Amino acid sequence: MKATWIIFILLAMVVGNQAADFNVLKYGAKANGKSDDSTAIANAWRDACKSIRASNVVIPKGTYIVGPIKLQGPCQAPVSIQAHQARFMAPSDPNKFKSQNGWFVFQGINGFTLSGGSFDGQGEVAWKQNDCAKAGKCSSMPINLVFNKLTNSLIRDVTSLDSKLFHMNVLNCRKMTFQHVTINAPEESLNTDGIHIGRSSGINITDADIKTGDDCVSLGDGSQQVNIEKVTCGPGHGIAIGSLGRYRNEEPVVGITVRNCTITNTMNGVRVKTWPASPSSGIARDLHFDNIVMNNVSTPILIDQEYCPYNQCTQEISDVSFRNIRGTTANQVAVQLKCSRGNPCRNVELSNINLAYHGSSNGTATSECANVKPTLKGHLFPPVCQLSST
Ligand SMILES: *[C@@H]1O[C@H](CO)[C@@H](O)[C@H](O)[C@H]1NC(C)=O
Ligand SMILES: *[C@@H]1O[C@H](CO)[C@@H](O)[C@H](O)[C@H]1NC(C)=O
Ligand SMILES: *[C@@H]1O[C@H](CO)[C@@H](O)[C@H](O)[C@H]1NC(C)=O
Ligand SMILES: *[C@@H]1O[C@H](CO)[C@@H](O)[C@H](O)[C@H]1NC(C)=O
Repeated sequence: MKATWIIFILLAMVVGNQAADFNVLKYGAKANGKSDDSTAIANAWRDACKSIRASNVVIPKGTYIVGPIKLQGPCQAPVSIQAHQARFMAPSDPNKFKSQNGWFVFQGINGFTLSGGSFDGQGEVAWKQNDCAKAGKCSSMPINLVFNKLTNSLIRDVTSLDSKLFHMNVLNCRKMTFQHVTINAPEESLNTDGIHIGRSSGINITDADIKTGDDCVSLGDGSQQVNIEKVTCGPGHGIAIGSLGRYRNEEPVVGITVRNCTITNTMNGVRVKTWPASPSSGIARDLHFDNIVMNNVSTPILIDQEYCPYNQCTQEISDVSFRNIRGTTANQVAVQLKCSRGNPCRNVELSNINLAYHGSSNGTATSECANVKPTLKGHLFPPVCQLSST
């Protein structure tokens, strides 16, 4: 009899493989937009993370006041946070974030899912105090959502509003997907990059809508195998690779594709920017931009490889393609390929470009090129690198 029971229980455990739920309301969250729910969320996370079967942290409809919080692994099994109708509000005072560089920090988890949730960083006070331009860095401001050392993870249907600094930062992650993310901050909010990726590989971003005050998506050193698809961007500064090479020991950026995106009213469209770091610096190669619509973008296509004074730069840009890029440019110079004499860009292709100038002065779109001899294919307007190509 006893043996039968044990077998039955074991069977039930195997068959009943539904995820275990950890509801934050049972941990004392009030969801009333007044009391601080940080501890309740942290405790629900702690128990979910200890669960030996897959678990859900359930965050029901409501408004949650949450201070800086770190949800950390390693966990025993995959953990999801389900927050479809939850709204999170950060303290507006940046001084409350001295303990960590982000508001929500997710760290060291394999098999993490964040599903839903609107994260309001309440950045207005912080933007006024932002001294990044003067100080040269913005270490004092928190990022809305920090993803650090995550693997096999999914972020979907998540909204980030008015972050004090970057909205999302992806660092040291492997195999991660961002699906249907919405990001919103005013055009004039400083340094509010939408999604910044660094030292991470196998990252996919699809169906994102990003309106912000800085780059919609920016890729820092060590970004590898990143696919960006169906992103609408603007206002903002566009989709950017770099700036790279400002610091020593940077890792290369390799294997980036940006496809089927629409970029509207931004400063740049797609941009690759490097600085000549010395002596060791990386490379940017295998970068592909395809099927992108530009609406009133100041500089739709831009490679900016800063002057390399002693011709010793190891910083190198190669294997880059811009294909099927069309729409309107707000400045006359629609295509700018400024490569350095010391290390010219190699193997650049432009094919089917159609950018019309819609600015206030008379004239048509033009291009500027230096130290690059791109392969030109299909219809190209404006004509690109006419003098330097054959
Ligand atoms: C990202 O997309 C590529 C191409 O569609 C696919 O091969 C890869 O498996 C995806 N990666 C993840 C982590 O989903
Ligand atoms: C991108 O757009 C092209 C042309 O509209 C379409 O054929 C292709 O399937 C799209 N790719 C993705 C991944 O959406
Ligand atoms: C073009 O973009 C600029 C910002 O770069 C914006 O100020 C302007 O209103 C836009 N024009 C139109 C017609 O949307
Ligand atoms: C644009 O061209 C028209 C016709 O040649 C001319 O009347 C007008 O003054 C020009 N505008 C500017 C801003 O140059």
